[in-house]
Amino acid sequence: MGRSFLILGGTGDLTGRLLLPGLAELVDAGVLDDGVRLLALSREDWSDEEYRGWAHDRLAEHAAHVPEAARERLVGRLGYRHGDVTVPADLRAGLAQAGGAPVIYLALPNTVFLPTLEAMTQVELPEGAVIAVEKPFGRDLADARRLNAVLHQLVPEESVFRTDHFLAMQTVLNILGLRFANRMFEPVWNAQHVERVDIVFDETLGLEGRAGYYDTAGALRDMLQNHLLQMLAVVAMEPPAALDARSLAARKADVLRAVRSPQDMRRDTVRARYTAGRIGGRELPDYTAEDGVQADRGTETYAEYTVTIENWRWAGVPFRLRSGKALGADRHEITLRFKPVPHLAFEEGTAEGGAAEADVLRLRLDPDGISLELNLNGGGDPFDLERRSLEVELPPARLSAYGLLLQELLAGEAALSISDVEAEQSWRIVEPILAAWAADEVALLEYPAGSEGPARG
Ligand code: BG6
Repeated sequence: MGRSFLILGGTGDLTGRLLLPGLAELVDAGVLDDGVRLLALSREDWSDEEYRGWAHDRLAEHAAHVPEAARERLVGRLGYRHGDVTVPADLRAGLAQAGGAPVIYLALPNTVFLPTLEAMTQVELPEGAVIAVEKPFGRDLADARRLNAVLHQLVPEESVFRTDHFLAMQTVLNILGLRFANRMFEPVWNAQHVERVDIVFDETLGLEGRAGYYDTAGALRDMLQNHLLQMLAVVAMEPPAALDARSLAARKADVLRAVRSPQDMRRDTVRARYTAGRIGGRELPDYTAEDGVQADRGTETYAEYTVTIENWRWAGVPFRLRSGKALGADRHEITLRFKPVPHLAFEEGTAEGGAAEADVLRLRLDPDGISLELNLNGGGDPFDLERRSLEVELPPARLSAYGLLLQELLAGEAALSISDVEAEQSWRIVEPILAAWAADEVALLEYPAGSEGPARG
């Protein structure tokens, strides 16, 4: 039976900004089989033609990197159906029109996930149906458990795809190659040699008109509950026997189970939001003055926390996760800082007169690259040390993260998905932080847009 792709929320921001461009890349690469039927379902009372007009405009805006011919081929293949995703009859009709073995993609606000899945329980799903759910997967642990319970009523776990596009980013995938296709890193990839790990995703972007979603989520739910914990899981997991979905999910889940939530919230967590400022030539208003923001919600636009992983490999090594909006520079990287050598025979130290720094391995995302900062003999006095860096720039990925994710999803591969256990464990880790912040145990700091982030008092 042929595949079909049914987008619930087919007129939404996510569809226009990420799913349609991802599909256009697949058309361009010649990997979106002509047999895959594409249908969008949403509330707007539009005809196919009106929908195609909307899709054309979104693609022009967000997929300028894809040749126009490929974009138009995609547009010509899109069908549209007007309906309410929480009404079983509308879902039934959508599934019948899509036909085949559907990938049902919930490109919806996360408050609508549960009513939509509950409505689906009233519908007989076609053989081979796969359900893809966007992030954040619920608002808390109880919510994630409810979502998992309904999903398991509908399809087996192997047919659930919990989206996290960071897993489809080139550098994140490259961690697997770097670690498990080379002999030299794995022996030092542990608490004996690594002093600390920083997982940082600083953005210069502000709210981008997403207040409706973001102001009820905040940086912790938007980034650190999912994307950054997934990166932690890939960095810290044990070597998998194979790269299939089951092995990867099991290894990542082991790590997440071993993560200990911060113990001292004031010491180990930071929350802050931006005030007016300037980034490059751009003036940003105070976060609270952005359209659609309700200041008294106290939503953070910057979140940071430090955890440890209580297992043999990582005990005692701090893993610091941080992400914020409207910061002065885009910094997207995972840094492993190694311990100093046990004895330094270079009595003079570095050419600058300081002590030798520890080795640092930096895995950079977007633009993707790796650098390894080392101490080497100086060019002048050979007994002085100099800091040198081995640099690798990775060529741009063939597909964007969403392009790759959709390719895998349509091929029935779930290796880039998050499992039920991982989703629940991730909420388990951040829930004490959410509770402490909601109770104002940790003060909400401020930082000017364009700065390096909040100064810690
Ligand atoms: C999304 C978050 O999941 O990831 C955004 O909702 C964030 O707030 C984005 O900006 C970052 O990913 P990318 O692929 O845009 O760099």
